[in-house]
Amino acid sequence: MSSRSQSHLAAGWLAATVAACSGEPAAHGGEYRLPWPEVPLPAAEDPHDNPRTEPKRLLGRILFYDPLLSADRATACVTCHSEIWGLGDQLPRSIGVGGRGVIGPGRSGAHRSRRNSPALWNLGLRSALFWDGRASTLEEQVLFPLRDPDELAREPDDVIADLRASSPYRALFEAAFPQAEPAVSRTTFTQALGTFVRAYVSDRAPYDGYLRGDALALDAQDRRGIALFAQLECDSCHVPPRFDSDRYANRAVPDPEQLDDVGRFALSGAEHERGAFRVPTLRNARDSGPYFHNGAVADYRAAIAHEVEQQVALGAREPLSEEELTDLTQFLRRALTDTSREQHPLDEVPSGLMVPLDSERFLRGDREL
Ligand code: HEC
Ligand code: HEC
Repeated sequence: MSSRSQSHLAAGWLAATVAACSGEPAAHGGEYRLPWPEVPLPAAEDPHDNPRTEPKRLLGRILFYDPLLSADRATACVTCHSEIWGLGDQLPRSIGVGGRGVIGPGRSGAHRSRRNSPALWNLGLRSALFWDGRASTLEEQVLFPLRDPDELAREPDDVIADLRASSPYRALFEAAFPQAEPAVSRTTFTQALGTFVRAYVSDRAPYDGYLRGDALALDAQDRRGIALFAQLECDSCHVPPRFDSDRYANRAVPDPEQLDDVGRFALSGAEHERGAFRVPTLRNARDSGPYFHNGAVADYRAAIAHEVEQQVALGAREPLSEEELTDLTQFLRRALTDTSREQHPLDEVPSGLMVPLDSERFLRGDREL
C-alpha cells in the first residue's frame, strides 16, 4: 500500500472516529471540509482542430438521432444512448441493427453488443474511451459503432455518400463547417458528432453546488457517505471531482453469461490487466444501470455493495452496516446527479427516416410502432 493511501486511510479512520463521537460528520475548525482536495470540475478542452460551435453541436445532435447511419435504417446512436435511460439503454448488453421493440427494456434481437453501453457524461475530460480504452478521442471513437456489425453495421464511406446526396444535410454541413472542402467528409462527420457528445456535461450536481460555495448543498447523509467513500478508498479510482479515472482494474464482477471478457488485456497484453476495465464515472450513474462492463448487476445499491466488498476484502475498512451502505448509496445517488443538460429527444431528422422510439414517447402514443 502506498504511503498516500495509508495516510488517506488514517484520515478516513479519524473521520469515522470523530463522526462516532460527535454524531456529526468530520469537521475541521468547526467547518465542514471534504476529505479530499476541494477542486471543481474543470471544463473540457476542445481539440485544437475542432473548436466547438453551436451549428456543429446541432448537426451532431441530428446525426445522433438519424437511423440513416445504420444498415437497417432503423437504428441510431440514440438506440443505445438514450436520455430517457440515463444515456444508456437499461439493457445489460445493447441490441443493435435488426432489433425489435422500442429503446430500452424489452428490446430484443440477434445483434447484441459485447458490453454494456456506457452513459456519455464528461467524456471530453477523458483520454481513454470505451471500457478497454481502445480510442483516445471522441472524433476517433465515432467510427467504431458505425462499423461494428452488432451496432450500426455500416461502412463510413457509404454513410458519407448518403449524407452528400442529401441536400438538407449538405446545407447543415456547409453551415457548420464553412471552411471545409468538401463540407461533408469523414472528418467533418466525426467532428460534429464529437462536438455533440462533448457537450454532455454533468457539473451542476449538489456536489458541485457545495464546491461553488453553497455549504448546505451536501446534507448530513451525503457527508456521512463522503466519509465512507474516502475510508473505503473509492476515491483512489473514482477520483473527485470527475469520479472516474483513466485507470484500469479488475473488480471481479460476476460473469453470468460466461463472456470471459479479458478487457484491457486484449490491447496491452499485460497479464495484470486481464479482466481489467476502465474506471467508469459515478456522476449520473444512478440513472444508467445495469452496471459494470457486462451489465451484470441491475441495481445501483447492489453494484455499490459489490464494490464495497472488494475494498473490504483488501482491508480498507471493516464491512459496512446496512445503514452505512444506505448513506454511501444516497451520497452517490443524490449528490452526484445533474440532469440539467438533458434535452427533449428529436422527433424528426433530415433523412425522413423514423427516429427510434423511446418507450416514453411510445407510451404517450406519439407514433405507431
Ligand atoms: C447497438 C448499441 C450502440 C449504438 C448504436 C451506439 N453505441 Fe456507443 N456504445 C455502445 C457500447 C456497447 C459501448 C461500449 C463498448 C466498449 O466499451 O467496448 C459504447 C461506447 C460509446 C462511447 C464511449 C463511452 C465511454 O465511456 O468511453 C461513446 C462516446 C459512444 N458509444 C458514442 C456513440 C455514438 C456517437 C454512436 C452513434 C454514431 C453510438 N455510440 C452508437 C453501444 C452503442
Ligand atoms: C481499484 C480501482 C477501484 C476502486 C478502489 C473502486 N472502484 Fe468502482 N469501479 C472500478 C472499475 C474498474 C469499475 C468497472 C469494473 C467492470 O465493469 O468490470 C468500477 C465500477 C463501479 C461501479 C459501477 C459503475 C457503472 O457505471 O457500471 C460503481 C457503482 C462503483 N464502481 C463504485 C465504487 C465504490 C462505491 C467504491 C468504493 C467502495 C469503488 N467503486 C472502488 C474501479 C474501482
